[in-house]
Amino acid sequence: MAFPATRLRRLRKTGVLRDLVREVELSPSDLVLPLFVQLGEGRTPVEAMPGVERMSISNTVAEAGEAHALGVPAVMLFGLPAEKDEQGSGAYDDEGVVQLAVRALKDAHPELVVITDVCLCSYTSHGHCGVVLDDGRVDNDLTLELLAKTAISHARAGADAVAPSDMMDGRVGALRSQLDAEGFTDLPIVAYSAKFASAFYGPFREAADSAPAFGDRKSYQMDPANADEAVREALLDVEEGADVVMVKPALAYLDVIRRVKEATRLPVAAYNVSGEYAMVKAAAAAGYVDERSLVLETLTAIRRAGADIVMTYHAKDVARWLSR
Ligand code: PBG
Repeated sequence: MAFPATRLRRLRKTGVLRDLVREVELSPSDLVLPLFVQLGEGRTPVEAMPGVERMSISNTVAEAGEAHALGVPAVMLFGLPAEKDEQGSGAYDDEGVVQLAVRALKDAHPELVVITDVCLCSYTSHGHCGVVLDDGRVDNDLTLELLAKTAISHARAGADAVAPSDMMDGRVGALRSQLDAEGFTDLPIVAYSAKFASAFYGPFREAADSAPAFGDRKSYQMDPANADEAVREALLDVEEGADVVMVKPALAYLDVIRRVKEATRLPVAAYNVSGEYAMVKAAAAAGYVDERSLVLETLTAIRRAGADIVMTYHAKDVARWLSR
């Protein structure tokens, strides 16, 4: 029945009514805070991401502890090694920066969920996510071996979940079978299933020092125009054993989040990436938008699109805002 019998404004009269009929909730318990951990002491600010810093292991432990105390259940670790080489060997070094940080984090905060990013780009001298051949191509199958070694090394250090972000074909299956062979049958894989070749990663590449030295990532990351293909990527990852599927970036890909959720019915994560964060920070600093309202609206929209989990650099602020 239409107007005047139907008046949708009846349920918008007060905050209590609006809360009662709210379809989607945003809670700190949905959030994952990404952290950049480096060897050595102190903190290095990331210029394009105000409030985000590369931190020593002890600072990372403190930062993660603060987030956890605010109700953020999980962090995701990116490592900056002391040295890089062609094969990205720092990624699968049992005494590497992420491995050391995982041990320190799990010692200090056993309840905190520690997810590790599994990729080679911040460990390779050329900055690509895999093994580069003489002709400049990134070799898929050689890379799988190194990714699996990395995941196993993270698992041995005590990671609660591994998150492969390289976009090689078959990496979820390779990780699953090799983790299982090593006895890590219960370790979840959070697959970056639909990861697009995006300009929104710009600030991250400064933070993780992972910009490719030549070319771009378009031969492995997805074309932003393709949503059917994103669903295929996600379904393949499910077949290979993914426990959570991720869409990345988030804001420009809300339709993909929805479609991946409907196609997989798995827990879906969305990565509210560095460029999305930088845009909000820049506009807020200029006084053009209200940061708090903008962030809460954005993250609620990502949840509404179908994401169960949101990776976001705003996690601590959001937890503070929501607890008031
Ligand atoms: C590395 C990786 C990237 C991000 C997460 N893992 C960057 C890239 O692919 O170049 C981006 C995260 C962000 O922008 O916040 N494979």
